[in-house]
Amino acid sequence: MDQLDMFNSEPVQAPEPENSQYASLEELLETIRQMDDDPLATAGTRIVISRGNTQARLLLIGEAPGPEENIQGRPFVGRAGKLLDKILQAAEFDPDEDIYITNSVFRMPPGTDGKAFRKPGNEEIEYYRPYVREIIRLIDPHVMLLMGNVACYSILGQTGITRLRGQWFQQQGRWIMPIFHPSYLLRNPSKAPGSPKALMWEDIREVRKKIDELSKK
Ligand code: URA
Repeated sequence: MDQLDMFNSEPVQAPEPENSQYASLEELLETIRQMDDDPLATAGTRIVISRGNTQARLLLIGEAPGPEENIQGRPFVGRAGKLLDKILQAAEFDPDEDIYITNSVFRMPPGTDGKAFRKPGNEEIEYYRPYVREIIRLIDPHVMLLMGNVACYSILGQTGITRLRGQWFQQQGRWIMPIFHPSYLLRNPSKAPGSPKALMWEDIREVRKKIDELSKK
């Protein structure tokens, strides 16, 4: 495990891939599609992996598929995904061209007590983590956005999105920023100064700046 360089805070440990097994993204995606002994396999929900442009320099990582993603087999196609697309478009990112998007967990964790789904647990996140890290390696983005605590736990090994959001981290030469999960914005629709939506907008503008700066180099 390498040391993660973090700006504005203490260095933290981040899990790093050891020896990679996959020669291509397609080989990796096919392996994930064939999974049948992962911790959520018995839930009977489908494998949902990623979408977007494999050449994109911006990689977004979310939590886990929800009910709509479980039906369509693509990540971020429900309400949270539509809001995310709007936010990205407002910062002049084309969601089909400029980004690649995946999740920390590749199946919807089934809910209890009448709920359709639940948050993934740490052991579930840890199980899928090596595959997520392989996606990162093979996409090789310049900038990554970790949406919410589950993605922060998976990639940075820490949580506390309210504290982490808007900070730049660096890992293996990549710029990483934790941001709020779009579902959190759906639950907190205020646009007042200091609101989650206003902070998200600040963060996305910083991301736009970073990508523009990097593309000049
Ligand atoms: N929320 C996520 O984190 N991922 C999805 O794919 C959909 C909703």
